[in-house]
Amino acid sequence: MERIIQEPDAPEPEATRRAADVTESSRANRGWWDRNADEYQIEHGTFLGDDRFVWGPEGLDEVEAELLGPPEELKGKDVLEIGAGAAQCSRWLAAQGARPVALDLSHRQLQHALRIQEGVGGRMPLVQADAGALPFADGSFDLACSAYGALPFVADPVRVLRDVHRVLRPGGRFVFSVTHPIRWAFPDEPGPEGLSVAASYFDRTPYVEQDDEGRAVYVEHHRTIGDRVRDVVAGGFRLVDLVEPQWPAWNTQEWGGWSPLRGNLIPGTAIFVCVRD
Ligand SMILES: C[S@@+](CC[C@H](N)C(=O)[O-])C[C@H]1O[C@@H](n2cnc3c(N)ncnc32)[C@H](O)[C@@H]1O
Repeated sequence: MERIIQEPDAPEPEATRRAADVTESSRANRGWWDRNADEYQIEHGTFLGDDRFVWGPEGLDEVEAELLGPPEELKGKDVLEIGAGAAQCSRWLAAQGARPVALDLSHRQLQHALRIQEGVGGRMPLVQADAGALPFADGSFDLACSAYGALPFVADPVRVLRDVHRVLRPGGRFVFSVTHPIRWAFPDEPGPEGLSVAASYFDRTPYVEQDDEGRAVYVEHHRTIGDRVRDVVAGGFRLVDLVEPQWPAWNTQEWGGWSPLRGNLIPGTAIFVCVRD
C-alpha cells in the first residue's frame, strides 16, 4: 500500500479496512493522486525514468520482458496505457514507433506527463478519465497495458477488464501489473517486520484511509490470485501468462514496503498477460 504523503497542515488520515464502492474509490483516489502526484514523481521519477517501461518496484523492464511482444512488432500499433501516471511507459512505446494514448484519472499526474514531454519530447494524446468508463470507440486499440495503474485501486475490476476488452481489436493483448496478492497478508514494511503474516490473505476488505469525517481519501482493493484469474476470464480475456518478477541483484532501492529483503523471499508484483481472442 502507498504511504500517504501529507499536505503541510492536513490532519493525519485514519487507516482502516472497510467497504468502499466504485464511486467512493474513484473519487478518493483521484483526490489522492492529484494531491500526491508531485511528491510521487520526486520520489520515484528517477527510478521510473522519463521514457522507460518499468512494470513495478522490482524494476522489470519491458525491454527484457517483452510481455507486449517483441519491441520491433510495436511499430504502428495503437496502444492504450491505463493509469499512465506521467506516461513514462507510453513515451517508451512511442520511441518504438507505437501510437500510445496515455489515460489517467489524475489531472496532476497528466500535468507531469506534459512537463516531461516538454523536456524530452515524445508527444501523445493524454486523456483524463476513469478506467471503468473508457472514452473510446469499440476496437480502437491493438494493445493495452497498465503498470500498477487503476487495477489495484478500482472496486469493480471486471468492469474495467470488460471495457478494455471492448476497446481492443481481436487478437489484442492487455498486460497489467498489480501488487502481488500475497503481500496483503504481510505488514507493508520493507524490513524484517514485513516478513510475518499479520492478516488473512482471504480478507477482501479494502484498505481505506479516511479523513476525520469518515470520507475515504485513499483506497486500495485486494483480490486473491484466484479472484484475479476469474476477473480476467469474466472480462472476456484468455490468460496466457502470470509473471511474478524476482527481485534482481542490481536493484538495491526500496519502494515503500517493496525491498530487496522481502523481494528475495516473497513476490511483490503480479503481471497478468491477457489475450482478447
Ligand atoms: C502507481 S501509479 C502507476 C503509474 C505509472 N505506471 C507509474 O509507475 O508511475 C497509479 C496510477 O493509476 C491512476 N489511477 C488510479 N485509479 C484510476 C482509475 N480508476 N482510472 C484511471 N487511472 C487511475 C493514478 O492516478 C496513478 O497515476
